[in-house]
Amino acid sequence: MSQDSLEAARDVRSVILVVDDDPGLRESFRLILEEEFDVLDAPDGPQGLEILRRSRVDVMLLDIRLPGMDGVQVLEQIKALDEPIEVILVTAVKTVKTAVTAMKLGAFDYLTKPFEEEEVLAVVRRALERRALQREVTFLRSEVARREDGDEIVGQSAEMRKLYQVIAQVAQTSATVLITGESGTGKELIARAIHRQSLRRDKPFVPVNPAAIVEALIESELFGHERGAFTGAYQKKLGKFELAQGGTLFLDEIAALKAEPQAKLLRVLQEREIERVGGTRRTAVDVRIIAATNVDLKRAVAREAFREDLYYRLNVVPIAVPPLRSRRDDIGRLVEHFIRKFNQQFGKRITGVSPDAFVALEDYGWPGNVRELQNIIERSVALVPGPLIQIQDLPMDVILGEHHARDGEAPPLPLSVAIERFERNLIQRVLDRVMWNQHEAAQLLGLHRNTLLRKIAKWGLSPPTRS
Ligand SMILES: Nc1ncnc2c1ncn2[C@@H]1O[C@H](COP(=O)(O)OP(=O)(O)OP(=O)(O)O)[C@@H](O)[C@H]1O
Ligand SMILES: [Mg+2]
Repeated sequence: MSQDSLEAARDVRSVILVVDDDPGLRESFRLILEEEFDVLDAPDGPQGLEILRRSRVDVMLLDIRLPGMDGVQVLEQIKALDEPIEVILVTAVKTVKTAVTAMKLGAFDYLTKPFEEEEVLAVVRRALERRALQREVTFLRSEVARREDGDEIVGQSAEMRKLYQVIAQVAQTSATVLITGESGTGKELIARAIHRQSLRRDKPFVPVNPAAIVEALIESELFGHERGAFTGAYQKKLGKFELAQGGTLFLDEIAALKAEPQAKLLRVLQEREIERVGGTRRTAVDVRIIAATNVDLKRAVAREAFREDLYYRLNVVPIAVPPLRSRRDDIGRLVEHFIRKFNQQFGKRITGVSPDAFVALEDYGWPGNVRELQNIIERSVALVPGPLIQIQDLPMDVILGEHHARDGEAPPLPLSVAIERFERNLIQRVLDRVMWNQHEAAQLLGLHRNTLLRKIAKWGLSPPTRS
């Protein structure tokens, strides 16, 4: 990897600042931490605070006894700065009492000297976890504010939550991002989320899809052209790079780029300068690049269809978006989300899907991922009289539970999921049989009525609406 993509990759490592007047201790912290994190250090409070003002710091290890300004005073100042940073105090046994006071001031935890290597790593990792959670909360809060725009990312599966943290983290940097994932998984949605979480949010987000542009015009699209550069170039035109100045350029379906524009793109990424087609002057560009691909770029590199050096330039921060079939717990939320969206669009009042339709949606292989799910819900909301979408309203593929999984069959269901599905199915059938007499159903099932009610609410079970 080249020097500055390494630099950029390092951007997303967590940064630990050690403030201690003892050079030996600073050194031992560095030795313990530097394999996993970036380490900065300072010999006293004022210099530590200065570093905080200048660079991003995630966690601070702060000695309580410092010459001049002591740790507690430093901590007070940090809290006044209102920086999202976790502080771990380092104390000698005698000052543990001070440490406890300091915790009340908002320190994350404290370490007592002498410490073990593992102990240091553990407390730092825990502090970082809390930082990550806070970021996730910030992320979700800002996503909730996006509701009206329909640009919101839906999903609470473990996979998606991990993705939210990566988005929030990478958004703080200008590092190049490569998003990979099957078609319809939400790559563009994620690229937009990174942009609007970043400091570039007030600058343009410019998408460009080379696969959709006539080959001869790609360079002019990307880099612009001067008047008269080629037949038909009547006017000077700005390329997408210049249009994205200060913002984010989203290079979609990057694998479609042919050899020549690949070479040009590489040069732009290296030099951060562009030259319009037919031009003589080079212009500096400040854009964050986010590229996306639904083919395995590594394989394209192996086939020599994609330049290896360009691949490494782009793949500084890789983000892999999991296919929908591997995060089935998101299906319910997505269904709800799209029903709400299309109800609004079509002025309908669909309230949900019937339980058996839901099971079918959950079991389906989703080769077209979220886009396919969205299309199916759109069509159903448009056509179905309501209030529920029934199983027979769904496309044949879904009803028959065809899997289409590209990489073989869907993995077997975890036992807990299978049991829950069985239970849901059974309860639905019993309820239907007793015409939704909940008292009778509870007796037949051997459940307390409250337990039954809870399960009905949890799964959103409801009586059939058709005769
Ligand atoms: N997690 C999600 N929450 C809500 N909507 C989503 C989600 N993922 C995808 N979508 C929606 O599905 C559609 C497809 O998403 P998007 O265009 O981002 O996919 P993509 O990965 O870029 O697909 P392709 O590779 O085909 O270009 C969009 O309408 C998008 O809003
Ligand atoms: Mg796309």
